[in-house]
Amino acid sequence: VDREQGQLLDLHDKAAQLYHHILLNTPAGEPARRYLQKRGMSRDLIEKFGIGFAPVQRILTPYCAQQKLDYQLMRKSGLFTEDRDGKLQDRFVERVMFPIRNAQGKVIAFSGRLLNTAQTDLPKYLNSPETPIFNKRRTLFNLDLAKKAARDDGRLYLFEGFMDVISAFGAGVENGIASMGTSFTSEQVQIINRTTKQLDICYDGDSAGQNAIDRAISLVQDHQNGHLNVQVVQLPAGVDPDEYVQQNGAAKFREYVHDQEETTTDFYLRFLRNGRNLNNQQELMTYLDAVLKEIARLDTPLAQDMYLSKLADEFKLDKAALQGQLRQFQGELH
Ligand code: GTP
Ligand code: MN
Ligand code: MN
Ligand code: MN
Ligand code: MN
Repeated sequence: VDREQGQLLDLHDKAAQLYHHILLNTPAGEPARRYLQKRGMSRDLIEKFGIGFAPVQRILTPYCAQQKLDYQLMRKSGLFTEDRDGKLQDRFVERVMFPIRNAQGKVIAFSGRLLNTAQTDLPKYLNSPETPIFNKRRTLFNLDLAKKAARDDGRLYLFEGFMDVISAFGAGVENGIASMGTSFTSEQVQIINRTTKQLDICYDGDSAGQNAIDRAISLVQDHQNGHLNVQVVQLPAGVDPDEYVQQNGAAKFREYVHDQEETTTDFYLRFLRNGRNLNNQQELMTYLDAVLKEIARLDTPLAQDMYLSKLADEFKLDKAALQGQLRQFQGELH
């Protein structure tokens, strides 16, 4: 950490404290307090994650002026927008503020959520831009706390959203992380690969979530250079982890992620059915080809045999024929 980075970290620490104070202790924070209460967020979680509120009245610009903070430092922090005359103004306005911490627990950026997404063109979440202390491709939300919990649980859970990580944490699943709104990156895979041996992907239970699971699995398969085992926890249709916790409670959520954990192959057996009519001979063949290619990736003959039996049973097929096809795909892999 060089001098400038140190100063940027200090500014972020101060900003996080300001936003947090405004949320908890001021009249300006009232709408955000109500909003978070309505979403079922406890005071404990608000404290733990240092959640705050950026009110309509700009607060960071006057604070920095009062502290006589260097103009260039303010510009580089990403916490301000700059008008044509170079005048700086608070970037985050009327948003619930989620501090983003690095692996050492220091605040390096923010994501701000609108209280009300109806009737606006503004993005629901606004993230800090890249800065000398914030690289989106290398940042995982909550990694600092999650890696501690992962030591006991032996895995990390990858969620789509910040609210999912926070709700899961409140429900006792403390080893949750999320990428930064942008998609999951190879750099993040490598960081996870250094942190734990297993990753459970637990994205939203909608079709966007399923497609994202598919992309995340491929990314891990392409970029992990150790032995990172990937599993999937597919949520019920239409809910995300946060909604699941709010609707069913902490115990049910813990039970769900535990019981519904499945291998990537089992995920693909289901996922590859989407949009295919398996009563149609041709579509069944295409499906079997795709599934056998997944099975060909497995390095244990026993697991391969198990899936072949499953397919042979379900579609009343000759297992030896499936085996033949599989061998062909395995040849192509090597
Ligand atoms: P809530 O509506 O607050 O529960 O958020 P969510 O996490 O359920 O949102 P959603 O499933 O729509 O999106 C998942 C994640 O994508 C969010 O947590 C953000 O990180 C990111 N995201 C969603 N909307 C936006 C956006 O408008 N801009 C950016 N940059 N990221 C977004
Ligand atoms: Mn506090
Ligand atoms: Mn979603
Ligand atoms: Mn969601
Ligand atoms: Mn949500």
